[in-house]
Amino acid sequence: MVMTEGTPRRGGERAPAATAAPIPAPLAPPPAPLVELRGVGFGYGGEPVLEGIDLTVARGEFVGLLGPNGSGKSTLLKIVLGLARPTAGRVALFGREAARFKERWRIGYVPQRLATFDAQFPATVAEVVGMGRYARLGPFRRPGAADRAAVERALAAVEMAPFRDRRIGQLSVGQQQRAFIARALASEAELLILDEPTAAVDAATQEAFYHLLEGLNRDRGLTIVLVEHDLAMVAAHVASVAVLNRRLIFRGDPAEFSRRDFLHGIYDERTTCEVHPEVPHVHPPHAPGAAK
Ligand SMILES: Nc1ncnc2c1ncn2[C@@H]1O[C@H](COP(=O)(O)OP(=O)(O)OP(=O)(O)O)[C@@H](O)[C@H]1O
Ligand SMILES: [Mg+2]
Repeated sequence: MVMTEGTPRRGGERAPAATAAPIPAPLAPPPAPLVELRGVGFGYGGEPVLEGIDLTVARGEFVGLLGPNGSGKSTLLKIVLGLARPTAGRVALFGREAARFKERWRIGYVPQRLATFDAQFPATVAEVVGMGRYARLGPFRRPGAADRAAVERALAAVEMAPFRDRRIGQLSVGQQQRAFIARALASEAELLILDEPTAAVDAATQEAFYHLLEGLNRDRGLTIVLVEHDLAMVAAHVASVAVLNRRLIFRGDPAEFSRRDFLHGIYDERTTCEVHPEVPHVHPPHAPGAAK
């Protein structure tokens, strides 16, 4: 509300008519980004793997994280997930310093390597999805009807309800990915982090998977960060990209990224051709790390 002359104030007083300039209504502070990295660095011992990373992800964004093999994408995700601690810089999650952020269920994670389940692994799809829900409840509350309903809704959202009683190890990789997304949905995660979710699935499944993610982002406001190597797929489905090569070398519109010459030098010849089909000449591949 904008205060104007004569606007009743607290206690019914009136603003003095002659002297009062309009008092601007206090603006609500902008919502904190879900992820905020400032000057983040990391190394596994020797060489730095990440350096000087400044990256924010606002609520509602759908961000594609790109970069060649070994550029630090999975490591960056591990830092956001609290699985690795940066050697430099600061990390804030949901507006709080990462060390003080305890509500881990607010972040759902679909890791890069999933298919480690034995076919006889003793958990059904519904049980795996339920784990996400129950992690949120904590150890002292027993799941009730509302929790079971949340699991069913999550399974339905990823079209996995018919598989609810299948053992998790008896699913295809693409189906396992969906089960893990359902697990995040059941826990009501607000940020979903996926590390190369479609690396092992066929083109039709990949397309369907992106449609699923787009729907979750658009209709439920789920914030998504996804590592992907298929640049064309990212450009077609994702509003914003972050490109890593030890440093963050680009953040913004994927079309803009494709137009500029950032790819020159960080990806190999084949990838450059894929992304720049209209470019008449082919850039020679450069050594990794040659990018600005
Ligand atoms: N546990 C580890 N111990 C030592 N070095 C590691 C470890 N994990 C990753 N690295 C190294 O850190 C660098 C970045 O690895 P990371 O897995 O983050 O890359 P990435 O961008 O996810 O690659 P990819 O596209 O192949 O998945 C690589 O040089 C890798 O060899
Ligand atoms: Mg990786």
